[in-house]
Amino acid sequence: MQNYITGFGNHFASEAVGGALPVGRNSPQRPAFGLYAEQFSTTAFTAPRAQNRRTWLYRMRPMAEHAPFEPLEGFARLATAPFTQGPVSPNRLRWDPLPLDENADWLEGLVTYGGNGDVGTGAGIGIHLYAAGRSMERRVVQDSDGELLIVPQQGTLHITTELGRMDVPPGHIALIPRGLRFAVALDGPSRGYVCENYGAPFQLPDLGPIGSNGLANPRDFEAPVAWFEDVEGEFEVVQKFQGHLWRTTIDHSPFDVVAWHGNSVPMRYDLARFNTIGTVSFDHPDPSIFTVLTSPGEIHGTANCDFVIFPPRWMVAEDTFRPPWFHRNTMSEFMGLIHGVYDAKEGGGFEPGGASLHNQMNGHGPDATSVRKAMEADLKPVKLDDTLAFMFESRWVIRPTAAAMELPGLQADYDHSWHGFEKAKLP
Ligand SMILES: [Fe+2]
Repeated sequence: MQNYITGFGNHFASEAVGGALPVGRNSPQRPAFGLYAEQFSTTAFTAPRAQNRRTWLYRMRPMAEHAPFEPLEGFARLATAPFTQGPVSPNRLRWDPLPLDENADWLEGLVTYGGNGDVGTGAGIGIHLYAAGRSMERRVVQDSDGELLIVPQQGTLHITTELGRMDVPPGHIALIPRGLRFAVALDGPSRGYVCENYGAPFQLPDLGPIGSNGLANPRDFEAPVAWFEDVEGEFEVVQKFQGHLWRTTIDHSPFDVVAWHGNSVPMRYDLARFNTIGTVSFDHPDPSIFTVLTSPGEIHGTANCDFVIFPPRWMVAEDTFRPPWFHRNTMSEFMGLIHGVYDAKEGGGFEPGGASLHNQMNGHGPDATSVRKAMEADLKPVKLDDTLAFMFESRWVIRPTAAAMELPGLQADYDHSWHGFEKAKLP
Protein backbone atom coordinates (compact mmCIF):
# COMPACT_ATOMS: atom_id res chain seq x y z
CA MET A 1 0.00 0.00 0.00
CA GLN A 2 1.25 3.44 -0.92
CA ASN A 3 0.61 6.72 0.87
CA TYR A 4 -1.33 9.55 -0.69
CA ILE A 5 -2.15 13.19 -0.13
CA THR A 6 -5.57 14.33 -1.24
CA GLY A 7 -7.21 17.09 -3.24
CA PHE A 8 -7.50 18.17 -6.87
CA GLY A 9 -5.41 21.20 -7.80
CA ASN A 10 -3.95 21.63 -4.33
CA HIS A 11 -0.46 22.98 -3.81
CA PHE A 12 1.07 20.00 -2.07
CA ALA A 13 4.41 19.70 -0.31
CA SER A 14 6.09 16.36 0.38
CA GLU A 15 9.53 15.23 1.46
CA ALA A 16 10.89 11.69 1.78
CA VAL A 17 13.79 12.87 3.95
CA GLY A 18 13.23 15.39 6.74
CA GLY A 19 14.68 18.80 5.93
CA ALA A 20 14.97 18.20 2.16
CA LEU A 21 12.25 20.68 1.25
CA PRO A 22 13.38 24.32 1.32
CA VAL A 23 11.26 26.66 3.39
CA GLY A 24 10.20 30.06 2.09
CA ARG A 25 12.00 29.89 -1.26
CA ASN A 26 12.00 27.65 -4.34
CA SER A 27 15.62 27.69 -5.44
CA PRO A 28 17.93 28.47 -2.54
CA GLN A 29 21.62 28.94 -3.28
CA ARG A 30 22.44 25.61 -1.64
CA PRO A 31 19.45 23.25 -1.21
CA ALA A 32 19.76 20.78 1.68
CA PHE A 33 22.11 17.80 1.24
CA GLY A 34 23.40 19.18 -2.09
CA LEU A 35 20.09 18.48 -3.87
CA TYR A 36 19.34 20.24 -7.16
CA ALA A 37 16.20 22.40 -7.56
CA GLU A 38 14.26 21.99 -10.79
CA GLN A 39 10.94 23.50 -11.91
CA PHE A 40 8.44 21.31 -13.77
CA SER A 41 5.81 23.43 -15.57
CA THR A 42 2.80 21.95 -17.37
CA THR A 43 1.16 25.27 -18.17
CA ALA A 44 2.80 28.41 -19.55
CA PHE A 45 4.55 30.50 -16.90
CA THR A 46 2.00 33.22 -17.65
CA ALA A 47 -1.16 31.07 -17.37
CA PRO A 48 -3.80 32.63 -15.11
CA ARG A 49 -3.36 31.66 -11.48
CA ALA A 50 -6.42 29.36 -11.45
CA GLN A 51 -5.00 27.30 -14.34
CA ASN A 52 -1.32 27.66 -13.57
CA ARG A 53 0.41 24.35 -12.83
CA ARG A 54 3.97 23.83 -11.76
CA THR A 55 5.94 21.78 -9.27
CA TRP A 56 9.39 22.28 -7.77
CA LEU A 57 11.52 19.14 -7.56
CA TYR A 58 14.56 18.60 -5.32
CA ARG A 59 16.62 15.75 -6.72
CA MET A 60 19.96 14.04 -6.37
CA ARG A 61 21.10 14.85 -9.90
CA PRO A 62 19.65 17.23 -12.50
CA MET A 63 17.34 15.66 -15.06
CA ALA A 64 19.22 17.56 -17.78
CA GLU A 65 22.24 15.25 -17.39
CA HIS A 66 21.91 12.75 -20.25
CA ALA A 67 23.30 11.87 -23.69
CA PRO A 68 21.37 12.79 -26.86
CA PHE A 69 18.11 10.96 -27.53
CA GLU A 70 18.13 8.57 -30.48
CA PRO A 71 15.15 7.24 -32.45
CA LEU A 72 13.55 4.14 -30.94
CA GLU A 73 12.02 1.88 -33.57
CA GLY A 74 9.54 -0.96 -33.28
CA PHE A 75 6.39 0.77 -32.10
CA ALA A 76 4.39 0.71 -35.35
CA ARG A 77 1.03 0.48 -33.57
CA LEU A 78 1.57 3.68 -31.57
CA ALA A 79 0.44 6.75 -33.52
CA THR A 80 -0.04 10.47 -32.98
CA ALA A 81 -2.27 13.17 -34.49
CA PRO A 82 -2.66 14.55 -37.07
CA PHE A 83 -4.17 11.34 -38.40
CA THR A 84 -4.25 11.98 -42.11
CA GLN A 85 -4.53 8.56 -43.70
CA GLY A 86 -7.54 8.08 -45.98
CA PRO A 87 -11.04 9.45 -45.68
CA VAL A 88 -12.65 8.99 -42.28
CA SER A 89 -15.89 7.07 -42.64
CA PRO A 90 -19.06 8.12 -40.83
CA ASN A 91 -19.66 4.52 -39.81
CA ARG A 92 -20.19 3.42 -36.25
CA LEU A 93 -17.42 1.08 -35.14
CA ARG A 94 -16.98 -1.45 -32.38
CA TRP A 95 -14.08 -3.65 -31.35
CA ASP A 96 -13.69 -6.79 -29.23
CA PRO A 97 -11.07 -6.59 -26.45
CA LEU A 98 -7.42 -6.76 -27.52
CA PRO A 99 -5.82 -10.20 -27.06
CA LEU A 100 -3.53 -10.24 -24.02
CA ASP A 101 0.18 -10.14 -24.75
CA GLU A 102 2.24 -11.66 -21.93
CA ASN A 103 5.53 -10.51 -23.43
CA ALA A 104 4.73 -6.82 -23.82
CA ASP A 105 5.37 -4.22 -21.18
CA TRP A 106 2.86 -1.39 -20.75
CA LEU A 107 4.53 0.80 -23.38
CA GLU A 108 4.97 -2.05 -25.87
CA GLY A 109 1.34 -3.07 -25.35
CA LEU A 110 -0.13 0.26 -26.53
CA VAL A 111 -2.22 0.29 -29.71
CA THR A 112 -3.54 3.60 -31.02
CA TYR A 113 -7.22 3.38 -32.05
CA GLY A 114 -7.63 6.99 -33.18
CA GLY A 115 -7.69 10.59 -32.22
CA ASN A 116 -7.90 14.11 -33.51
CA GLY A 117 -6.28 17.53 -33.54
CA ASP A 118 -2.58 18.03 -34.00
CA VAL A 119 0.09 17.37 -31.41
CA GLY A 120 2.19 20.16 -32.98
CA THR A 121 -0.40 22.78 -32.14
CA GLY A 122 -1.35 21.33 -28.76
CA ALA A 123 -4.95 20.42 -29.58
CA GLY A 124 -6.85 17.15 -29.66
CA ILE A 125 -6.35 13.69 -28.23
CA GLY A 126 -4.83 10.31 -28.99
CA ILE A 127 -6.77 7.23 -27.88
CA HIS A 128 -4.80 4.09 -27.10
CA LEU A 129 -5.65 0.70 -25.65
CA TYR A 130 -3.07 -1.50 -23.98
CA ALA A 131 -2.75 -5.24 -23.49
CA ALA A 132 0.40 -6.16 -21.60
CA GLY A 133 1.78 -8.79 -19.27
CA ARG A 134 5.21 -7.68 -18.11
CA SER A 135 6.58 -4.92 -15.89
CA MET A 136 8.93 -2.31 -17.30
CA GLU A 137 12.46 -3.20 -16.27
CA ARG A 138 14.89 -0.32 -15.87
CA ARG A 139 12.84 1.57 -18.44
CA VAL A 140 10.94 4.80 -17.82
CA VAL A 141 8.67 6.79 -20.12
CA GLN A 142 8.23 10.49 -20.58
CA ASP A 143 5.33 11.62 -22.77
CA SER A 144 6.15 15.15 -23.92
CA ASP A 145 3.16 15.06 -26.31
CA GLY A 146 0.40 15.00 -23.75
CA GLU A 147 -1.05 14.37 -20.35
CA LEU A 148 -2.12 10.75 -19.87
CA LEU A 149 -5.46 9.66 -18.47
CA ILE A 150 -5.17 5.92 -17.85
CA VAL A 151 -8.23 3.72 -17.32
CA PRO A 152 -7.26 0.17 -16.25
CA GLN A 153 -9.78 -2.51 -17.17
CA GLN A 154 -7.92 -5.63 -16.03
CA GLY A 155 -4.93 -5.80 -13.69
CA THR A 156 -3.62 -3.24 -11.21
CA LEU A 157 -1.03 -0.78 -12.49
CA HIS A 158 1.79 0.01 -10.07
CA ILE A 159 2.99 3.35 -11.35
CA THR A 160 6.24 4.84 -10.13
CA THR A 161 6.68 8.52 -11.01
CA GLU A 162 9.27 11.14 -10.24
CA LEU A 163 6.90 12.42 -7.54
CA GLY A 164 6.04 9.07 -5.93
CA ARG A 165 4.21 5.78 -6.39
CA MET A 166 0.55 4.94 -7.03
CA ASP A 167 -1.42 1.68 -7.17
CA VAL A 168 -4.15 1.96 -9.78
CA PRO A 169 -6.56 -1.00 -9.90
CA PRO A 170 -9.48 -1.32 -12.34
CA GLY A 171 -12.21 1.09 -11.26
CA HIS A 172 -9.60 3.77 -10.59
CA ILE A 173 -8.08 6.17 -13.10
CA ALA A 174 -4.62 7.71 -13.15
CA LEU A 175 -3.57 11.12 -14.43
CA ILE A 176 0.08 11.58 -15.41
CA PRO A 177 1.11 15.17 -16.22
CA ARG A 178 2.69 15.81 -19.61
CA GLY A 179 6.45 15.28 -19.45
CA LEU A 180 6.63 13.53 -16.07
CA ARG A 181 8.79 10.40 -16.06
CA PHE A 182 7.12 7.19 -14.94
CA ALA A 183 7.35 3.40 -15.06
CA VAL A 184 4.57 0.81 -14.91
CA ALA A 185 4.81 -2.51 -13.09
CA LEU A 186 2.16 -5.20 -13.54
CA ASP A 187 0.95 -8.16 -11.47
CA GLY A 188 0.09 -10.15 -14.59
CA PRO A 189 -2.01 -9.83 -17.75
CA SER A 190 -3.38 -6.30 -17.88
CA ARG A 191 -5.62 -4.34 -20.16
CA GLY A 192 -6.97 -0.82 -20.29
CA TYR A 193 -7.48 2.46 -22.07
CA VAL A 194 -5.42 5.67 -22.36
CA CYS A 195 -6.44 9.15 -23.41
CA GLU A 196 -3.37 11.15 -24.42
CA ASN A 197 -4.42 14.76 -24.06
CA TYR A 198 -2.46 17.17 -26.26
CA GLY A 199 -4.62 20.12 -25.12
CA ALA A 200 -5.33 21.94 -21.87
CA PRO A 201 -4.78 19.76 -18.78
CA PHE A 202 -7.81 17.94 -17.40
CA GLN A 203 -9.67 19.85 -14.72
CA LEU A 204 -12.85 19.34 -12.75
CA PRO A 205 -15.95 20.64 -14.56
CA ASP A 206 -17.85 23.65 -13.24
CA LEU A 207 -20.98 22.64 -11.35
CA GLY A 208 -23.31 25.56 -12.11
CA PRO A 209 -26.69 25.14 -10.41
CA ILE A 210 -25.62 21.76 -8.97
CA GLY A 211 -23.79 23.83 -6.36
CA SER A 212 -20.58 23.34 -4.48
CA ASN A 213 -20.71 19.54 -4.12
CA GLY A 214 -21.21 16.64 -6.47
CA LEU A 215 -19.82 14.68 -9.39
CA ALA A 216 -16.10 14.11 -8.69
CA ASN A 217 -15.29 15.88 -5.44
CA PRO A 218 -11.80 17.42 -5.25
CA ARG A 219 -10.81 15.73 -2.00
CA ASP A 220 -11.14 12.25 -3.53
CA PHE A 221 -8.19 12.75 -5.89
CA GLU A 222 -5.01 11.26 -4.48
CA ALA A 223 -1.45 12.32 -5.24
CA PRO A 224 1.52 10.21 -4.14
CA VAL A 225 3.89 11.31 -1.42
CA ALA A 226 7.55 11.88 -2.29
CA TRP A 227 9.46 8.65 -2.82
CA PHE A 228 12.92 8.11 -4.24
CA GLU A 229 15.47 5.38 -4.84
CA ASP A 230 19.23 5.78 -4.85
CA VAL A 231 20.09 3.18 -7.50
CA GLU A 232 23.13 3.23 -9.76
CA GLY A 233 23.26 1.44 -13.13
CA GLU A 234 21.81 1.83 -16.58
CA PHE A 235 18.21 3.03 -17.03
CA GLU A 236 16.58 3.55 -20.41
CA VAL A 237 14.58 6.77 -20.74
CA VAL A 238 12.01 6.61 -23.55
CA GLN A 239 10.52 9.90 -24.62
CA LYS A 240 7.47 10.36 -26.85
CA PHE A 241 8.11 13.62 -28.66
CA GLN A 242 6.01 14.92 -31.59
CA GLY A 243 4.69 11.48 -32.38
CA HIS A 244 7.96 9.56 -32.34
CA LEU A 245 9.72 7.56 -29.65
CA TRP A 246 13.26 8.45 -28.67
CA ARG A 247 15.61 6.79 -26.22
CA THR A 248 18.62 7.62 -24.15
CA THR A 249 20.26 6.00 -21.16
CA ILE A 250 21.34 7.40 -17.83
CA ASP A 251 23.56 5.77 -15.23
CA HIS A 252 21.17 6.00 -12.28
CA SER A 253 17.49 5.71 -11.45
CA PRO A 254 15.55 8.78 -12.62
CA PHE A 255 13.38 8.38 -9.53
CA ASP A 256 15.75 10.41 -7.37
CA VAL A 257 13.42 13.26 -6.35
CA VAL A 258 13.71 13.48 -2.58
CA ALA A 259 11.20 16.30 -2.02
CA TRP A 260 8.77 18.38 -4.05
CA HIS A 261 6.05 20.97 -3.77
CA GLY A 262 3.50 22.21 -6.26
CA ASN A 263 0.24 21.48 -8.07
CA SER A 264 1.36 19.66 -11.23
CA VAL A 265 1.23 16.15 -9.86
CA PRO A 266 0.21 12.63 -10.84
CA MET A 267 -3.08 11.58 -9.31
CA ARG A 268 -5.40 8.66 -8.99
CA TYR A 269 -9.14 8.67 -8.45
CA ASP A 270 -11.54 5.90 -7.45
CA LEU A 271 -14.53 6.13 -9.81
CA ALA A 272 -16.69 4.55 -7.09
CA ARG A 273 -16.43 7.89 -5.28
CA PHE A 274 -18.18 9.72 -8.13
CA ASN A 275 -21.33 11.36 -6.78
CA THR A 276 -23.77 10.56 -9.57
CA ILE A 277 -26.48 13.14 -10.19
CA GLY A 278 -29.66 12.29 -12.10
CA THR A 279 -33.34 12.96 -12.41
CA VAL A 280 -35.81 12.44 -9.56
CA SER A 281 -38.83 13.24 -11.73
CA PHE A 282 -38.84 12.42 -15.45
CA ASP A 283 -36.47 12.31 -18.47
CA HIS A 284 -32.80 12.12 -17.84
CA PRO A 285 -30.20 14.84 -18.16
CA ASP A 286 -27.70 14.93 -21.02
CA PRO A 287 -24.78 12.56 -20.35
CA SER A 288 -22.58 15.58 -19.61
CA ILE A 289 -24.03 15.21 -16.10
CA PHE A 290 -21.59 12.28 -15.75
CA THR A 291 -18.44 14.30 -16.56
CA VAL A 292 -15.56 13.42 -14.25
CA LEU A 293 -12.87 15.60 -15.87
CA THR A 294 -12.76 18.03 -18.75
CA SER A 295 -10.02 19.41 -20.95
CA PRO A 296 -11.62 22.65 -22.14
CA GLY A 297 -11.48 23.67 -25.80
CA GLU A 298 -10.92 27.17 -27.13
CA ILE A 299 -14.64 27.65 -27.79
CA HIS A 300 -16.43 28.24 -24.52
CA GLY A 301 -18.68 25.30 -23.68
CA THR A 302 -16.98 22.74 -25.91
CA ALA A 303 -14.35 20.29 -24.79
CA ASN A 304 -11.07 19.20 -26.28
CA CYS A 305 -11.99 16.10 -24.29
CA ASP A 306 -14.51 15.19 -21.62
CA PHE A 307 -14.02 12.05 -19.56
CA VAL A 308 -17.50 10.79 -18.74
CA ILE A 309 -18.54 7.66 -16.82
CA PHE A 310 -21.73 5.61 -16.62
CA PRO A 311 -21.51 4.23 -13.08
CA PRO A 312 -23.93 2.15 -10.97
CA ARG A 313 -26.95 4.32 -10.10
CA TRP A 314 -30.61 4.29 -9.21
CA MET A 315 -33.10 4.77 -12.03
CA VAL A 316 -36.31 6.31 -10.71
CA ALA A 317 -37.69 8.45 -13.54
CA GLU A 318 -41.44 8.21 -14.16
CA ASP A 319 -42.88 7.91 -17.68
CA THR A 320 -39.39 7.95 -19.12
CA PHE A 321 -37.39 5.97 -21.64
CA ARG A 322 -34.60 5.22 -19.23
CA PRO A 323 -31.65 3.98 -21.32
CA PRO A 324 -29.53 6.53 -23.20
CA TRP A 325 -31.84 7.88 -25.90
CA PHE A 326 -31.28 7.80 -29.64
CA HIS A 327 -29.27 10.80 -30.64
CA ARG A 328 -26.95 12.62 -32.98
CA ASN A 329 -24.44 14.96 -31.52
CA THR A 330 -21.84 17.48 -32.65
CA MET A 331 -19.36 15.82 -30.28
CA SER A 332 -17.62 12.53 -31.11
CA GLU A 333 -17.71 9.65 -28.66
CA PHE A 334 -15.22 6.86 -27.97
CA MET A 335 -16.53 4.38 -25.39
CA GLY A 336 -14.99 1.68 -23.26
CA LEU A 337 -16.38 -0.75 -20.71
CA ILE A 338 -14.55 -1.53 -17.47
CA HIS A 339 -16.97 -4.15 -16.14
CA GLY A 340 -20.55 -5.36 -16.36
CA VAL A 341 -23.10 -4.53 -19.04
CA TYR A 342 -23.74 -1.08 -20.52
CA ASP A 343 -27.45 -0.29 -20.29
CA ALA A 344 -27.80 0.69 -23.95
CA LYS A 345 -26.25 -2.54 -25.25
CA GLU A 346 -28.07 -5.37 -23.48
CA GLY A 347 -28.13 -7.24 -26.76
CA GLY A 348 -24.43 -8.08 -26.29
CA GLY A 349 -21.31 -7.37 -28.34
CA PHE A 350 -19.90 -4.60 -26.13
CA GLU A 351 -17.51 -6.52 -23.89
CA PRO A 352 -15.44 -5.29 -20.95
CA GLY A 353 -12.14 -4.26 -22.56
CA GLY A 354 -13.89 -3.61 -25.88
CA ALA A 355 -14.49 -0.22 -27.44
CA SER A 356 -16.88 1.64 -29.70
CA LEU A 357 -16.73 4.83 -31.73
CA HIS A 358 -19.69 7.02 -32.66
CA ASN A 359 -18.51 10.03 -34.59
CA GLN A 360 -20.05 13.46 -34.95
CA MET A 361 -23.70 13.60 -36.18
CA ASN A 362 -24.05 9.84 -36.64
CA GLY A 363 -27.17 8.31 -35.15
CA HIS A 364 -26.72 5.85 -32.33
CA GLY A 365 -28.32 4.80 -29.10
CA PRO A 366 -29.72 1.68 -27.52
CA ASP A 367 -29.84 -1.59 -29.42
CA ALA A 368 -33.14 -3.25 -30.28
CA THR A 369 -33.02 -5.56 -27.23
CA SER A 370 -32.53 -2.62 -24.86
CA VAL A 371 -35.27 -0.57 -26.54
CA ARG A 372 -37.86 -3.35 -26.35
CA LYS A 373 -37.04 -3.95 -22.69
CA ALA A 374 -37.16 -0.26 -21.81
CA MET A 375 -40.46 0.41 -23.57
CA GLU A 376 -42.17 -2.60 -22.00
CA ALA A 377 -40.76 -2.14 -18.48
CA ASP A 378 -43.00 -1.67 -15.50
CA LEU A 379 -41.26 1.46 -14.22
CA LYS A 380 -40.20 1.12 -10.61
CA PRO A 381 -37.07 2.40 -8.92
CA VAL A 382 -34.28 0.03 -9.96
CA LYS A 383 -30.60 -0.03 -9.20
CA LEU A 384 -28.29 -0.35 -12.19
CA ASP A 385 -25.49 -2.36 -10.66
CA ASP A 386 -22.26 -4.02 -11.74
CA THR A 387 -21.71 -1.63 -14.61
CA LEU A 388 -18.97 0.86 -15.35
CA ALA A 389 -18.68 2.26 -18.85
CA PHE A 390 -16.93 5.47 -19.85
CA MET A 391 -16.50 7.82 -22.76
CA PHE A 392 -13.73 10.01 -24.14
CA GLU A 393 -15.82 12.68 -25.85
CA SER A 394 -14.32 15.34 -28.08
CA ARG A 395 -15.49 18.32 -30.10
CA TRP A 396 -13.51 17.02 -33.08
CA VAL A 397 -14.11 13.92 -35.17
CA ILE A 398 -12.12 10.96 -33.87
CA ARG A 399 -10.26 9.49 -36.82
CA PRO A 400 -9.55 5.76 -36.43
CA THR A 401 -6.04 4.62 -37.31
CA ALA A 402 -5.28 2.11 -40.05
CA ALA A 403 -3.99 -0.21 -37.30
CA ALA A 404 -7.36 -0.07 -35.52
CA MET A 405 -9.27 -0.68 -38.76
CA GLU A 406 -7.13 -3.77 -39.40
CA LEU A 407 -7.59 -5.31 -35.94
CA PRO A 408 -9.22 -8.76 -36.08
CA GLY A 409 -11.50 -7.58 -33.26
CA LEU A 410 -13.19 -4.93 -35.41
CA GLN A 411 -16.79 -6.12 -35.62
CA ALA A 412 -18.20 -6.39 -39.12
CA ASP A 413 -21.80 -6.55 -37.93
CA TYR A 414 -22.01 -3.63 -35.48
CA ASP A 415 -24.76 -1.89 -37.46
CA HIS A 416 -26.88 -4.97 -36.80
CA SER A 417 -27.32 -3.65 -33.20
CA TRP A 418 -29.84 -1.22 -34.66
CA HIS A 419 -31.81 -3.76 -36.63
CA GLY A 420 -35.28 -5.19 -36.11
CA PHE A 421 -37.16 -2.19 -34.73
CA GLU A 422 -40.92 -2.35 -35.16
CA LYS A 423 -42.42 0.38 -37.27
CA ALA A 424 -44.71 2.81 -35.49
CA LYS A 425 -48.42 2.16 -36.13
CA LEU A 426 -50.29 5.30 -37.04
CA PRO A 427 -54.06 5.50 -36.39
FE1 LIG B 1 -23.83 9.03 -27.64
